Amino acid sequence: MNNFIYHNPTKLIFGEDTLTELPKLLNGKGKNILLVYGGGSIKKNGLYDNVLEQLKAIDAHVVELSGVEPNPRLTTVRKGIELVHAHGVDFILAVGGGSTIDCTKAIAVGAKSDADIWDIITRKKAAKGAVPFGTILTLAATGSEMNAGSVITNWQTNEKVGWGSAYSYPAFSILDPKHTFSVPKNQTIYGMVDIMSHALEHYFHHETTPLQDRMVEGILKTVIETAPKLLEDLENYEHRQTILYAGTMALNGMVSMGYNGDWATHNLEHAVSAIHDIPHGGGLAILFPHWMEHVLDADIHRFKQLGRRVFDLEQGTESDRDFALRAIQALRDFWTSIGAPSTLKDYDIDASSIEDMADRTVQLSDTFGGFKSLNRDDAVAIYNASL
Ligand code: NZQ
Repeated sequence: MNNFIYHNPTKLIFGEDTLTELPKLLNGKGKNILLVYGGGSIKKNGLYDNVLEQLKAIDAHVVELSGVEPNPRLTTVRKGIELVHAHGVDFILAVGGGSTIDCTKAIAVGAKSDADIWDIITRKKAAKGAVPFGTILTLAATGSEMNAGSVITNWQTNEKVGWGSAYSYPAFSILDPKHTFSVPKNQTIYGMVDIMSHALEHYFHHETTPLQDRMVEGILKTVIETAPKLLEDLENYEHRQTILYAGTMALNGMVSMGYNGDWATHNLEHAVSAIHDIPHGGGLAILFPHWMEHVLDADIHRFKQLGRRVFDLEQGTESDRDFALRAIQALRDFWTSIGAPSTLKDYDIDASSIEDMADRTVQLSDTFGGFKSLNRDDAVAIYNASL
């Protein structure tokens, strides 16, 4: 295990009816608030009205940026930065899923910098600060509510880039499982795949981390046990609560202290959605098992451990390799059983865009992936296997 420093400044407010904490959380932080949200789900489920009521209690002046897209776009980030400058915004409140929160992070950092936000996202310039921001999460998936990461798509250049900075942690995040009741079945599935993928990206490395392994396995097993029950009963508080907490824990740094995970599959998926604008969790469900088969020999024991401890498989007379392959198949079968896609064809993606997607996987660096270093040729092979 490597030395590490862990510091996560986000205050987490978790549980039923916790929205009432909002005035206290904002007290003294800001009066000119930019409210950022997506395509309207918060208006349909009543959260928008409830948030405005809480903001009224502190007499806040509210400016709105609505319409943040799933796979949020640079153009929307720029609109937000303009609003911050035009209205003297001193606090940004994101109400939505990972896309709304990621967009807010880029607005917050971009508004406090002389550099162009795309140059910061693509690591040409450093972030210098951020307008303070908080979040009210409505979808369990990305962990963005308690991490410094953000993923922004530039449709002018077809690039979807993950970035982060010391300034892009939310000051607070309010997580009420009831705010996720209205998430439709397909988004609930993508969210759970994303959560499991974060756990799996952490799982594949070469350090000795017995406690972290068990924590990651705990997240995986919990999602596997809860997913079918939640999908049968989308407004079940207990199951929504379990998945919401799992989502935050899978990517807030708690399970990944002392080692670097892999992250090749996220890189591969971002290249797919940069061109085809597909849901992130859907892309991960397709690509992850193929990445696993491609890198299996980097450490076959890791896959065997996954099979034994997470999927309760027992090795029979088969070879280690065959047992490891069976573990990967168990993951694929689980995702298929809950309704996740399994081939790129499910999104009408054929071989014609593979070269383009592969180019994008190496746009910022010639190699990617921590468990096994991959290059453009590996990306082509994994995409071909995923057709
Ligand atoms: O836009 P609205 O109308 O709100 O609808 C959204 C959207 O259509 C809907 N939704 C959200 N909460 C809802 C709801 N519908 C009904 N009821 C609710 N309570 O769900 C749809 C998807 O929302 P989105 O925010 O796009 O989903 P998600 O949270 O999965 O975020 C995906 C984005 O996050 C990035 C992905 O690449 C993608 O761009 N990621 C960010 C990460 C991070 N910051 O750490 C890590 C992730 O792995 C991921 O890469």
